[in-house]
Amino acid sequence: PFTGVVAVDGPSGSGKSTVSRRLAAALGARYLDTGAMYRAVTLAVLRAGVDPSDTDGVLSVLYGVDLQMGTDPAQPGVRLNGESVDRQIRTEQVTGAVSAVSSVPGVRTVMIAQQRAIAATGGIVIEGRDITTVVAPDADVRVLLTASAAARAARRGGETGTNAAEQQRAMRRRDELDSRTSSFLSAADEGVLVLDSTELGIDEVVDQLVHAVHVGA
Ligand code: C5P
Repeated sequence: PFTGVVAVDGPSGSGKSTVSRRLAAALGARYLDTGAMYRAVTLAVLRAGVDPSDTDGVLSVLYGVDLQMGTDPAQPGVRLNGESVDRQIRTEQVTGAVSAVSSVPGVRTVMIAQQRAIAATGGIVIEGRDITTVVAPDADVRVLLTASAAARAARRGGETGTNAAEQQRAMRRRDELDSRTSSFLSAADEGVLVLDSTELGIDEVVDQLVHAVHVGA
């Protein structure tokens, strides 16, 4: 099996979660969804009744949070203080507040340290917004997954059942906020493989990445 690290970044709706999970399964590797970690902290903040823009309040919640990340690509899953919260972290409320929470520097410091600790033993595909640049800049393969705004909104709309125009607006807003914190809208440098999934099926993207891992690109 694969013993290295694959880093995958991209905006929401780029297909990176699906692709990263499938890639991990194909490689016999583990999988880490870093977005789920920021979402779980955000859920804790909302449950505590803390305003996501209240930095001190967010930090005090953060210190009481214990996150356990499942890294089996067949069954990832996140536990917040022992409770499985996979559904609760995907609500509109969490999605609407996560950019504010993840822009708090102290939150990022703690999340990045945990992500690096999980990645340290290798054999893992790790996805997010700052993986190719900050969390694992030395990864064996670094990928930026993109797709047109229309394709991304259509994928997300299909997931949540809301209309495409509304989805596109919310997505653009979140990408804009997130890009103030991490640069994931363009490749960090020449070593990053850029894959546009607009016209490609999931299988084709996964096949290209499996190939990239085998040639060590
Ligand atoms: O990937 P997903 O859409 O689940 O990520 C949720 C949020 O978590 C992003 O909108 C962003 O605010 C934050 N995030 C981050 N850094 C990462 C992954 C996610 O700031 N590496």
